Amino acid sequence: MRLAVFVSGNGSNLQCIIDNIQSQFLNGITIGVVVADRDCYANQRAQNNNLKTLLINKKADWHTQIEATLKEEDITHIVLAGFLSILNKTFCESWKNKLINLHPSLLPKYGGKGMYGLKVHQAVIDHKEKESGATVHFVTEKIDEGSILLQRKCNVDLNETADSLQNKIHEIEKDILIESIKILYAKTQSTY
Ligand code: GAR
Repeated sequence: MRLAVFVSGNGSNLQCIIDNIQSQFLNGITIGVVVADRDCYANQRAQNNNLKTLLINKKADWHTQIEATLKEEDITHIVLAGFLSILNKTFCESWKNKLINLHPSLLPKYGGKGMYGLKVHQAVIDHKEKESGATVHFVTEKIDEGSILLQRKCNVDLNETADSLQNKIHEIEKDILIESIKILYAKTQSTY
């Protein structure tokens, strides 16, 4: 299984995938390219680990730029790890069931356009939710609505802030992201 990891920010989830490949916990899996939609620290992490990077030009036909690189690198699956651009319908359909996204809430709650990062956690706190969590789901053209692969919960404590909730959820995210990649890999090994 050869992954493309799409990023826009810090890249801590990308780093987690890299670490799990290096430790061979993610055995049989490689990263062929890291695709970024902006200059970000995740890009730096990719370069530090000698991974190919593609910085897309959003002013041009960026879906075509990506597709060309995915083909060139024989990519089989895509992980959106904090990628903030919206992929178009054609792209999502051509990668159906091979394209997953990580989201920092218990979808279908607190998803959709504009819901990312701290905004999600602040909304959870504002609505006085008692629990939150993280979700890995398959990507469709409808933002954050594809079928759920894995989801894990945590408590929202009485004195919780958006920052503390984000830190808590970052830990959960890493676990379910790695488990999800293992599930996708197991599917590629199945003879059925
Ligand atoms: C993660 O918390 C991920 O769930 C979130 O962006 C963060 C990226 O962190 N994604 C979204 O909010 C998508 N709607 P990272 O760059 O350190 O991996």
